[in-house]
Amino acid sequence: YEVRKNFPKNFYWGGAVAANQCEGAYLEDGKQMSTADIKARGFFGGIKRDAEYYPTHKAIDFYHSYVEDLKLLGDAGFNIFRTSINWTRIYPTGEEDMPNESGLKFYDNMFKECIKNGMTVMVTISHYETPLALVEKYGGWYNRKYIDFYMKFVKTIVERYKGIVSYWLPFNEIGNVAVTPICWDAAAIHPDSENLLQKMYQAAHNQFVASALATKLIRETDPNALVGGMIAYKTVYPHTCNPVDVVACENEKRKEYFFSDVQVRGYYPSYIWKFFNDNNITIEMERGDEEIIRCHTLDFISFSYYRSRVASSEYVEPGEIDMNTIEGISNPYLPKTNWGWSIDPDGLMLALMDLYDRYQKPLFVSENGLGTIDKVEADGSINDDYRIEYMKLHIQAMKRAVEQGVDLFGYTMWGPIDIVSNGTGQMSKRYGIIYVDLDDDGNGTGKRIKKKSYDWYRKVIQSNGDNL
Ligand code: BG6
Repeated sequence: YEVRKNFPKNFYWGGAVAANQCEGAYLEDGKQMSTADIKARGFFGGIKRDAEYYPTHKAIDFYHSYVEDLKLLGDAGFNIFRTSINWTRIYPTGEEDMPNESGLKFYDNMFKECIKNGMTVMVTISHYETPLALVEKYGGWYNRKYIDFYMKFVKTIVERYKGIVSYWLPFNEIGNVAVTPICWDAAAIHPDSENLLQKMYQAAHNQFVASALATKLIRETDPNALVGGMIAYKTVYPHTCNPVDVVACENEKRKEYFFSDVQVRGYYPSYIWKFFNDNNITIEMERGDEEIIRCHTLDFISFSYYRSRVASSEYVEPGEIDMNTIEGISNPYLPKTNWGWSIDPDGLMLALMDLYDRYQKPLFVSENGLGTIDKVEADGSINDDYRIEYMKLHIQAMKRAVEQGVDLFGYTMWGPIDIVSNGTGQMSKRYGIIYVDLDDDGNGTGKRIKKKSYDWYRKVIQSNGDNL
């Protein structure tokens, strides 16, 4: 066996976005509101009925600018583009019998443009964009009725985009059921919601079944397409080497691994029953659910990786509280972004090694990047050396994992064109290699400007990751 020194030939290099964070046009061509459309600016839970401004309504207007935007990405050498299909463009309230043809046409044209620009299409079926009408009527995903609504949507898009979409991800960050329309948003919409933990795991179960049914349907409809998981991975470290902290760390890891364990192995892992027992969680399963989950496991695992976190057996006074996270112990060995996220490339290497050791399935980094403030200089340039450094260190970390035998087949940086932040609704939290002239209130020309990182990433792609 030869030690692999660089990325495999045909490695995917590209970028990822979510429809609601870039498209705008929130009521155009028959679309209706999704839960993302009542997210105001601010910390998680910014769901508000009476906010003055909703950033997703206009976003960066990708709905109208995709031709130019995708050309810019193609020119940077991207060979893959990941986006989501906004459920509410296809089934505006989730309950229609027939899909909205105008919504489908938009994705026909947009995907055509991706392919024309040399990009393979990877689609997230559900990226925090549940029809608002469904949430108002049925609550969150803990309601089993969602499986049918979702499958109607899946059937429509899988049949339509057969041979066009090569990779499907049934749910974005499936383990985040607590902070997505499943519970958190549903709780904001239905403030009397009780027993969130129970609802969260019931929602997860319903999504496991939905994801497995989607996998089955995709395989039957388009045998050439592959289906991947998508989990939010935050490498966890014990706060100290005191074994009680190590145990706490293992428990945290299991809470994260639970989701991929079910979806990759095809059954609930034995450790989860004690957790359910301790937390009074009872999962309602229907006859046949276990078989569906067992028979339709994933082809590959994708994950988002931005930062790591720390677990302790005791309550630790938060150092610097992260602006965008619930957990607050900071790691003194790591620098942080302006938004308080630790910067930890080794954590990415560990994520890849752990996931590969655990499952031996091909891996794909479907999100990674630095969300920060960029400054446009007087001459119009944007010198984002900090982003180049961040990406360089993370790509080097991937390379080290590949040397360790990890089967990694692609990388899509998050938000290659600046988009609205999911967590805070800000435009100023920018991830792109392409700048968009819009501020947090939506003011600006919307003009696109290549940042310094644009050329840098282009060279990285051209050299298949050698020229860092
Ligand atoms: C991921 C989500 O969790 O993180 C994206 O899948 C999100 O939708 C990304 O945008 C970055 O987070 P944020 O809050 O900085 O936009």
